[in-house]
Amino acid sequence: MKILVTGGTGYIGSHTVVELLNEGHDVVIIDNLSNSDRKVVDRIENITGLRPVFYEADILDKAALDKIFDEEKIEAVIHFAGLKAVGESVEKPLLYYENNISGTINLLKSMNEHSCKNIIFSSSATVYGTPAFVPITEECPKGTCTNPYGWTKSMIEQIMMDQCIADKEWNAVLLRYFNPIGAHESGTIGENPNGIPNNLMPYVTQVAVGRLKELGVFGNDYDTHDGTGVRDYIHVVDLALGHVKALKKLVKGSGLSIYNLGTGQGYSVLDIVKNFEEATGVKIPYVIKPRRAGDIDTCYADSSKAEKELGWKAQRGIKEMCADSWRWQKNNPNGYDE
Ligand code: NAD
Ligand code: WQD
Repeated sequence: MKILVTGGTGYIGSHTVVELLNEGHDVVIIDNLSNSDRKVVDRIENITGLRPVFYEADILDKAALDKIFDEEKIEAVIHFAGLKAVGESVEKPLLYYENNISGTINLLKSMNEHSCKNIIFSSSATVYGTPAFVPITEECPKGTCTNPYGWTKSMIEQIMMDQCIADKEWNAVLLRYFNPIGAHESGTIGENPNGIPNNLMPYVTQVAVGRLKELGVFGNDYDTHDGTGVRDYIHVVDLALGHVKALKKLVKGSGLSIYNLGTGQGYSVLDIVKNFEEATGVKIPYVIKPRRAGDIDTCYADSSKAEKELGWKAQRGIKEMCADSWRWQKNNPNGYDE
């Protein structure tokens, strides 16, 4: 299949492109490089022996999208492109609503006009807000998001649902990711946040490599086994493979499907510190800090629907996730900057 991957040089996108190429798909990437580096294309080629087609372009530029759909015979789109920093979204909501929502509407319009009506979308467990129950199934009601980033995911889901109702030729798979960490085993592609990381694992690896002094643990008075927040961490390669499996839902008459992609296993912040230290032999100094606004105590998935319907199940455990995150960071202490 010829697949357009928006945001394909980003963290999850690049790992997905590798697995798509490994499966024999043709891949076309569009990315504006606002949060990624063009070197990723070379690294993907080094891993797979295949070079994806790369367009440096913005999904806000409808003419650029139209040109790509005119030039390439795209059969399906995997849509990763978007801004994802929770804190920044609170400060700059218009930037987030415009980039993520207007960008997606441009993409859907261009797809419609070129009769390409198959899409997989990067949604998030954030759409559940404070979950009504755990483990979270897809039946769990969507909740009140605590930030504009989360609302963009929730709203884009709604837009895709409405489009699938309006036009039965459309097929959409909404994948709700839990907490992706880890990196490709080659240690040549991985997560590369701008500035001080917001997310736990890149913060831990930057402490490990000496770029940051110590980890701040946000709260130790949650209702969890050790008082620190519990999340469902999933290896980014398992997540990437979930997209390859989801392609099979993009067939005539499928309409809209929703899947949680997680492992079903929750780990606390201190569990992550311990597992990281055991997997790598590197000590992570930490201090307890106040709770971070908007955080919930516990979030983990029931992913049995994806197992049943897609034949997908996460295979990689927490130690492998920690070891692979570390290999990437150690080999690339400054990310893609030389
Ligand atoms: P990322 O920032 O590494 O990748 C996103 C890519 O999109 C970047 O390469 C960026 O340059 C590109 N991009 C952003 N706006 C664009 C635009 N207007 N036009 C073209 N390209 C644009 O992020 P990621 O972690 O790989 O996340 C991928 C997707 O998955 C995002 O939509 C994110 O919201 C979603 N998601 C991520 C997580 C997570 O924890 N990483 C969890 C749930 C969902
Ligand atoms: C995990 C745990 C923190 C950093 C976020 C987004 C969510 C999704 C994934 C995209 C929590 C604690 C963290 C630190 C800490 N993204 N922590 N010290 O908050 O579950 O989810 O990323 O959709 O929308 O909200 O992930 O990695 O930020 O935090 O103690 O320096 O680690 O409090 O318990 P989170 P995270």
